[in-house]
Amino acid sequence: MQGHSHYVPTSGIGKWMDTRLPLPRLVYDSFIAYPVPRNLNYFYTFGAILSFMLVAQIVTGVVLAMHYTAHVDLAFNSIEKIMRDVNYGWMIRYLHSNGASMFFIAVYVHMFRGLYYGSYKAPREVLWILGVIIYLLMMATAFLGYVLPWGQMSLWGAVVITNLFSAIPLVGPTVVEFLWGGYSVDNPTLNRFFSLHYLLPFMIAGVVVLHVWALHVTGQNNPTGVEVKDVKKDTVPFTPYATLKDAVGLIFFMILFMWFAFFQPNYLGHAVNYVPADPLVTPPHIVPEWYFLPFYAILRAITFDINLIIFTIPSKLGGVLAMFAAIAVLAFLPWLDTSKVKSTAYRPLHKQFFWAFVVVCVMLGWLGSKPAEYPYTVLSLIFTGLYFAYFLVVLPLLGLFETPRQLPASIADAVLAKTKKAGAPVTAGAAAAPQTKG
Ligand code: HEM
Repeated sequence: MQGHSHYVPTSGIGKWMDTRLPLPRLVYDSFIAYPVPRNLNYFYTFGAILSFMLVAQIVTGVVLAMHYTAHVDLAFNSIEKIMRDVNYGWMIRYLHSNGASMFFIAVYVHMFRGLYYGSYKAPREVLWILGVIIYLLMMATAFLGYVLPWGQMSLWGAVVITNLFSAIPLVGPTVVEFLWGGYSVDNPTLNRFFSLHYLLPFMIAGVVVLHVWALHVTGQNNPTGVEVKDVKKDTVPFTPYATLKDAVGLIFFMILFMWFAFFQPNYLGHAVNYVPADPLVTPPHIVPEWYFLPFYAILRAITFDINLIIFTIPSKLGGVLAMFAAIAVLAFLPWLDTSKVKSTAYRPLHKQFFWAFVVVCVMLGWLGSKPAEYPYTVLSLIFTGLYFAYFLVVLPLLGLFETPRQLPASIADAVLAKTKKAGAPVTAGAAAAPQTKG
């Protein structure tokens, strides 16, 4: 998107650089003059919060890696050494472990924001799919990282998740041995998990660059879902408006983060992971971290073989397929939602289904934390059905039958209508006055 861009290098070195590698121009055009819709709310600060969290995880992770030993006999103790003997090691470790949870809180707000405002719709399909790839990479990174302290939940979580691959027909057991690097979850497994846990965040960073690039090509969506028509009236420059709003969002998010890290550092974890890994003792409940729980519920919802006349899908494979399908379906969202209107603010029926879907996800999360027995298994099956029904039935049909509310003619019009409602005088210049943003 063009507009507000008038980069002129002033210093001699600035001019020299601009004709060779115009990095300052790129930064200026992308993060200073870049036009953003004037009506963005605080849900739009989560992209910046996520970028900050990614850097924070990489920095704290690199420091942890300086003191961590990836060996089954030493890993647990090396973490305890970090906690007790390394200067501020306890702080770095708690920032990193709680940082993972905060990263997922932020990504879920970011994704549900996208769902609510229809940000996955044309022309932002690629931007959305890159987001889904980031999400997958985040899940893989978090899973690998949780194994590293080599506590009881680390080991048994790794056993459960890697064993899922044994459900793949024919090649399953070979794939599992390949993942393990042997015949059980052991030292080679821990080593490769450490190596990959170090690698993946940099891959995430690479995909984030593509994600933000795609964003800068299409421009941001906004709470009305109406595209920018007049850059002058509908947008404001990124700096100072978005920069400052992002800073405020980040400060509030940091307060929550610091509260967990300094006052409740183990609240989101499992006490049993402070028991060193023991391959001979299975913990009574093997539960993943909170951010995986909805998918864990879907995995365990399929407790029966699925008979498809020509062949039968065994229950274990059925669970694995359902779990992967629950994530894969997100990538098809741009084509599953048939509504011409993007923002749920103008879709009265979808608003109700959206909130019902949020409840379904929360319920799945709760069910994922429960033991795999009646009535939780039946409830998991029902809520898994509802999860898929939202994507495969509700979104395709709703767009055809729903009568949306009248859309504003432009972003500026929507902002002015709000100002009018609030009783403020509306002048001809008001649409161009940046202070109405928010
Ligand atoms: C490390 C993780 C991520 C980072 C750093 C990141 C970064 C960003 C940034 C900076 C923005 C622009 C500001 C904003 O709209 O909040 C953005 C927008 C967006 N992101 Fe992400 N993102 C991440 C993960 C995801 C995921 C997992 C999804 C979806 C599956 C996603 C989907 C989107 C969409 C659709 C937009 C455009 C929103 C709109 O214009 O309405 N992102 N992202």
